[in-house]
Amino acid sequence: MPPSVVITVPSIVTDVEEHAVRDAAVSAGMKDPFLLDEPVAAAIGAGVDVTSDKGSMIVDIGGGTTDIAVICLGGSVLSSSVRTAGDEMTEAIIRYCRSKYSLLIGEQTAEQAKIAIGSVWRRDDIQTVSVKGKSLKSRAPVLTELTSNDMTEALFEPVTALIEEICAVIDKTPPELVSDIAESGIILTGGGCQIYGLDKLISSVTGLPVKVADDPALCVVKGAGMADKAGLIPIRERK
Ligand SMILES: Nc1ncnc2c1ncn2[C@@H]1O[C@H](COP(=O)(O)OP(=O)(O)OP(=O)(O)O)[C@@H](O)[C@H]1O
Ligand SMILES: [Mg+2]
Repeated sequence: MPPSVVITVPSIVTDVEEHAVRDAAVSAGMKDPFLLDEPVAAAIGAGVDVTSDKGSMIVDIGGGTTDIAVICLGGSVLSSSVRTAGDEMTEAIIRYCRSKYSLLIGEQTAEQAKIAIGSVWRRDDIQTVSVKGKSLKSRAPVLTELTSNDMTEALFEPVTALIEEICAVIDKTPPELVSDIAESGIILTGGGCQIYGLDKLISSVTGLPVKVADDPALCVVKGAGMADKAGLIPIRERK
């Protein structure tokens, strides 16, 4: 019998947090909840055969956190979770507008600009977007045009931190698994991975192929729904 409910949790969740999630689910009337590591769920949703003995690497870039995991035989062999993700990229755009254009923009405006023209790789067809903000000099409302090159500059810091963390996980990965990843490619999931050129940039720094999953923002939820069909070996004991 498959579990009545699958709940995804970050791979770095503590035992206390795991118990709290389980207790909350049981109190809410859910029978026999099954906790599944989010990167494993993301991998299943991205179409990876997680039970294989071949290693694969998932980088799930969400809003609050980026989860990086090397997956093999149904579980995470190595994992890391950092707070550099989509929200931090949005914050970086706000900081950039303030320092470069003396322009104060709100979080929603910055996020919309990021989704519209966010880019970390120089592009020939420069994209632009007009953003409404407040001048820090005159205090008047102003309309300013941002370009995809602005985005590349603004996103440099968070994206560099993110890639450094990916490299740190690769450095800790056993050589056999790195060879597997070199074949299958690093797989990007999560809404935040849709920034233009992020795959190319990660590939150029790591020297490994990188693929963006189909419907990246939906991989975790799709994977949770497919966990039993994926023949997943439970990586957390059901208590
Ligand atoms: N087209 C896009 N380009 C760039 N970023 C995007 C795009 N669409 C969504 N995002 C960003 O993706 C992030 C949300 O991703 P996702 O839905 O995977 O997060 P989450 O699972 O809710 O967060 P977490 O995994 O941290 O709990 C937000 O920061 C959002 O701005
Ligand atoms: Mg997520």
